[in-house]
Amino acid sequence: MASSSHAQSVAGGTRFLEAGSGEVILFIHGSAETAEVWLPQLAAFAASHRPLAPDVTAADAVAQLRRLLDDLALASVNVVAQGDGGAIALALAAAHPQRVRRLVTIGFEPGAAVAPRLLCPVLFMPAADDERSVTAALSAVLSERLSRFDNRELRTAFGSFMTGVTIVTTAGVDGQPRGFTANSFTSVSLEPPLLLICIGKAAASVDVFSRAEGFAVNILSEAQKDTSVLFASKRPDKFEAANWRPGPFGNPLIEGSAAWFDCARYQVIDAGDHIILMGHVQAFSYSDANPLGYARGHYITLGLEQAAVNAASSASRTVVGAILESDNRLILLPDPARPDGLVLPEVGRSGAHGSASQLHDLLTREGMDATLGFLFAVFENPESREQCIYYRGEALLHARGRTVLADFEDIPWDRLPDEATRSMLRRYAAERKIGRFKIYSGDHRQGLVKAVD
Ligand SMILES: Cc1cc2nc3c(=O)[nH]c(=O)nc-3n(C[C@H](O)[C@H](O)[C@H](O)COP(=O)(O)O)c2cc1C
Repeated sequence: MASSSHAQSVAGGTRFLEAGSGEVILFIHGSAETAEVWLPQLAAFAASHRPLAPDVTAADAVAQLRRLLDDLALASVNVVAQGDGGAIALALAAAHPQRVRRLVTIGFEPGAAVAPRLLCPVLFMPAADDERSVTAALSAVLSERLSRFDNRELRTAFGSFMTGVTIVTTAGVDGQPRGFTANSFTSVSLEPPLLLICIGKAAASVDVFSRAEGFAVNILSEAQKDTSVLFASKRPDKFEAANWRPGPFGNPLIEGSAAWFDCARYQVIDAGDHIILMGHVQAFSYSDANPLGYARGHYITLGLEQAAVNAASSASRTVVGAILESDNRLILLPDPARPDGLVLPEVGRSGAHGSASQLHDLLTREGMDATLGFLFAVFENPESREQCIYYRGEALLHARGRTVLADFEDIPWDRLPDEATRSMLRRYAAERKIGRFKIYSGDHRQGLVKAVD
């Protein structure tokens, strides 16, 4: 059942067969076998992975395999070995622990010689009589049993790192400009001037970017949220819908960006399900536009955060409050001014000048451990001349105390102090359903809070 879809190449002095694309599985055969013994697995895994089967011939097989990985710029791989190829695989993982992600041996008896230094998960599978059961067992192992983390959780944890937002573009190899939104940008070196971005192997343009002579990184400004959404889409007409011009090195520059860097390709590095593109900066420019921010899956506009700070310091009366959730329920407190009335946790209502630190003190006094992650609304109440600033976040309740928890479907609207609070909470309740929050600012009149974007 040999497949014709594999290719044969030579790298680092070693002949190997390969197929597919994506995460690499290195198949190591046993003695008295050749790479061809893995043809059924090459065919079976080509759709989901990049199976790669070398002829392991050198006396020092570990050095031979290391040369092969180096030559193919493969930082780390999954390894599957059969028979006494298992000993080579273990030796490879022991000698180069960073380069073997997971290891599976089939029909290999490790005895007492298992290297204690192995960092990767290892599975010793018994020999199987037929190819199909080998392939089925390997599929299960590679997709599930050795996967250490829940990827959604991992992505959320990575997303705690606040970043800017860029659009990475290239003139391409076929004259067709390509581009995608990326927050994996990192400045790398001043001498020589280097930067990097990571592109997922599932991106439509990954092949073009990995072969292109160069690429440009456009650092987006606050006004370019829509452009970010456009370039994060799969729309084929991204460049027709955007304002851009060719940069000095030929790659598209998006108009209105806070900064741009036009780069020549410096290095392309294989890295798991992504490719690292390192660029050598050929030209760059920047403006004083505020950069767009991104954290935990949401856009952040620093200018507005600053506006809140400025407003708070210039207004004579400032109310600072929070829309806080505990266990998916809204936190309210009794209103000292109205019997049976409820208010959001807030300071400054009594005419005093509220501040974020006073709000923190209030929350602590009321038994809450709150994370005030993001600004939610900034508006001025012209009647009371109060500047109102509300944050949103989560709170842990140490003690129930005076807090009242309300379900979002059942908010006690008539117990809230004014239309401003009701209007803001209606919007909050609607936005939390879709998990996308906007920031509101402007004058507050008749309970209206204006959307910024
Ligand atoms: C804020 C944000 C940041 C992103 N960062 C990256 C990134 O660093 N690398 C990446 O490959 N995709 C990233 N994406 C996803 C790509 O923009 C998206 O997959 C896009 O469709 C790829 O374009 P293409 O498939 O047309 O090539 C990001 C998306 C958003 C909204």
